[in-house]
Amino acid sequence: MELLIKNARVVDVSQDFIGDIYIKDGVINEISKEIIVKENVEIFDCKGKTLMPAFIDTHAHFRDPGLTWKEDLETGSRAALRGGYTGVCLMANTNPICSSTEVLDYVRNKSKELNLIDIHQCPSVTKNFDGKTLSHLEELKDDNEVKAISDDGVGVSNSNIMMDAMKIAKENNWVLMSHAESSEFSKVDMRIAENMMTLRDIELARITGAHLHMCHVSTIEALECIINAKRKGVNVTLEVTPHHIALTNDINNYRVNPPIREKEDVEAILSAIKMGMIDTIGTDHAPHTLEEKAKGSPGMVGIETAFSICYSTLVKDNIISLNDLSKLMSYNPAKLLGMNKGKISIGVEGDLVLVDIDKKIKIDSEKFASKGRNTPFEGMEYYGEILATIKGGRILYKAL
Ligand code: DOR
Repeated sequence: MELLIKNARVVDVSQDFIGDIYIKDGVINEISKEIIVKENVEIFDCKGKTLMPAFIDTHAHFRDPGLTWKEDLETGSRAALRGGYTGVCLMANTNPICSSTEVLDYVRNKSKELNLIDIHQCPSVTKNFDGKTLSHLEELKDDNEVKAISDDGVGVSNSNIMMDAMKIAKENNWVLMSHAESSEFSKVDMRIAENMMTLRDIELARITGAHLHMCHVSTIEALECIINAKRKGVNVTLEVTPHHIALTNDINNYRVNPPIREKEDVEAILSAIKMGMIDTIGTDHAPHTLEEKAKGSPGMVGIETAFSICYSTLVKDNIISLNDLSKLMSYNPAKLLGMNKGKISIGVEGDLVLVDIDKKIKIDSEKFASKGRNTPFEGMEYYGEILATIKGGRILYKAL
């Protein structure tokens, strides 16, 4: 597969120039201000548009197996491509829950057959989210494809079990992704629920030395706790979502866990992003039917809208540069998940996204490739349209 991309503004974590990129056999083969056109090579002229490493989502739910009326691996992958993503880390709250090689094999085989994006499926921390059994992790020790484990959706309540899980994660070089929500407080106060669990998990990470990834961090207190721990050398990374960056609960209180927070929390997230203390943006793409939403299911789809929301809120509003956004959406997620992408350099997979940063778009869920239409951003206008998504030199998504 050969593709020659011409005349793009090329932006990644550390560069910004106008030039050409040549992809051969799936990887970036040449980068230059001008590459001479080769014979029999597909040319993609991108004059006036911005080319970045494709995005990698550190946090998504594709609901396959078992909940495929909400989403499946194909619609999730197509939604990812439409949002500029070629890599995702999927959470384990499927049916059955991903606690076995059978479920892992199912997801991996189906994603190989689809041949659309790179899917990292997280196995659960506790077996079937029972909150206590870790024996299934033994079975996964020799599985080199496992990079991260998570009980996202519920979290691990028992502190002793969480400590043992962190020890196992450390031994195996896995990232432990934490959904910080203390079930003791969920029904009382979702702020206390997040803060208490964050304090606990940070302390356990300090004790065990495990790599802890704090998912969808949303409160000022949790942020402060994690940033302090980072400064003290605790092995912790920090993820935020587009919705916790762009919405405040006085204006839009769409149901999601963790909830949309106060203005002060959002300001704290924005200033942490500016200070370079946030590691990744994860969408927490969580499709539900509108009937399920009406009955109270928490979550929203987000993978098709993440870039424009983040670009408008963070770059257009002068909080960070486009290089920094590329770091949050591509470079750091690739590092976290051990993927050979997320930057534009020779030998790296040819996964790229072409965007029009000047184009204003109106979010229209009818156009989503996802089965989910559950978005609080319906009708809102943002800058930054995804024009094309390229995976290993193949143009797999192109806007009409
Ligand atoms: O709002 C949420 N929805 N938060 C989660 O952690 C899980 C997700 C889902 O799976 O629907």
